[in-house]
Amino acid sequence: MIEINHLNKTFVLKKSNINAVNDVSLHIKDGEIFGIIGYSGAGKSTLVRCINFLERPESGTISIEGFGTVRADKGKLFLSKEEKEKKMSDADLRRLRRSIGMIFQHFNLLDRETVFDNIAYPLKYTGLDRLEIQAKVNELLKLVNLEDKRNVYPNQLSGGQKQRVAIARALADSPKVLLSDEATSALDPDATESILHLLKELNHQLGLTIVIITHEMAVIKEAADRVAVMEDGRVVEEGDVYNVFAHPQQIITKKFVESSSGLSNIDKLIATKAVSVLEEDDRKLIKLIFTKDAVGNALISEVSRNYNVDVSIALANVDVVSGSALGGIIAEISGLPENIKNAVNFFQEHGVEVEVIHHA
Ligand SMILES: Nc1ncnc2c1ncn2[C@@H]1O[C@H](COP(=O)(O)OP(=O)(O)OP(=O)(O)O)[C@@H](O)[C@H]1O
Ligand SMILES: [Mg+2]
Repeated sequence: MIEINHLNKTFVLKKSNINAVNDVSLHIKDGEIFGIIGYSGAGKSTLVRCINFLERPESGTISIEGFGTVRADKGKLFLSKEEKEKKMSDADLRRLRRSIGMIFQHFNLLDRETVFDNIAYPLKYTGLDRLEIQAKVNELLKLVNLEDKRNVYPNQLSGGQKQRVAIARALADSPKVLLSDEATSALDPDATESILHLLKELNHQLGLTIVIITHEMAVIKEAADRVAVMEDGRVVEEGDVYNVFAHPQQIITKKFVESSSGLSNIDKLIATKAVSVLEEDDRKLIKLIFTKDAVGNALISEVSRNYNVDVSIALANVDVVSGSALGGIIAEISGLPENIKNAVNFFQEHGVEVEVIHHA
């Protein structure tokens, strides 16, 4: 659907250059919800702004299904379709932007226009007549569940309702792709959940491909199918959301995963000495991660029966990631060193990831 290859975007500043997007390659599939996560300044907004060429990359290509491949060369854009390449015209650019909707953290609504007029705005220059526009806006209002707000102004709406208006406006021209740049970051948890629910519904109902940028792992966990992690302009990790949560590889990814997991509370419990890190041969503090296949098995009781060890749970947490359970337990395991070793092997053989927690 969207294939990004070796994309680079540098901001030239007086003192130094910033490689905001550094050799990024990504393949976003048709009909998926693709998440991009990273800390502030990682280059997320710049990357998505390159997808609709609000930012001009220096080099790299972006292929968009049904549109063609755009190649950037020192800020100039070339469009190729069926192997023929030409300079990209303003009309090409407008056509591309019409096939990609975008929503933002602060909604970007027109305060002096009603909800109806905000949504109708992008339809002004599409050649539709008044009645056709009315029909389209009514359909969009229904889609985002705001039929009763058509004549009010943005300042009479809650944050979540404003974002619904922005979503309807972004979809007015029936784009195939929706880019969402921190669309839930200014919302409270309930409104966030309802907007993510709406995005998932639109993805399902309309087959809309959605790219969600966020700095919150909870958003990825709730809504995305796949995720890319960005750091310093680069994509450092990428994969199926469940797998990334279950087996994060990079330090930054581990940090993000921990930030949204109840297991991160172990650090607080250790700091207040409510739980101790054990370094003796016959007592260890261990972390167990149970993925889909292992969740629900009675492995703990089996281990203590088979290997004559005691397992005392300090902290446990079950997350739902992409609709499947992901469990974590932090426990004290005690017994003969040989038995502890065998118990750990048993867990690992049954698909449980085991980590012995040591003093920092
Ligand atoms: N127009 C610009 N001119 C100069 N530098 C810029 C410009 N836009 C972004 N940058 C720089 O590029 C880097 C990436 O910025 P970007 O906005 O893409 O990050 P981000 O991941 O979206 O961050 P945030 O989570 O804070 O929105 C930052 O170092 C930023 O300062
Ligand atoms: Mg940003």
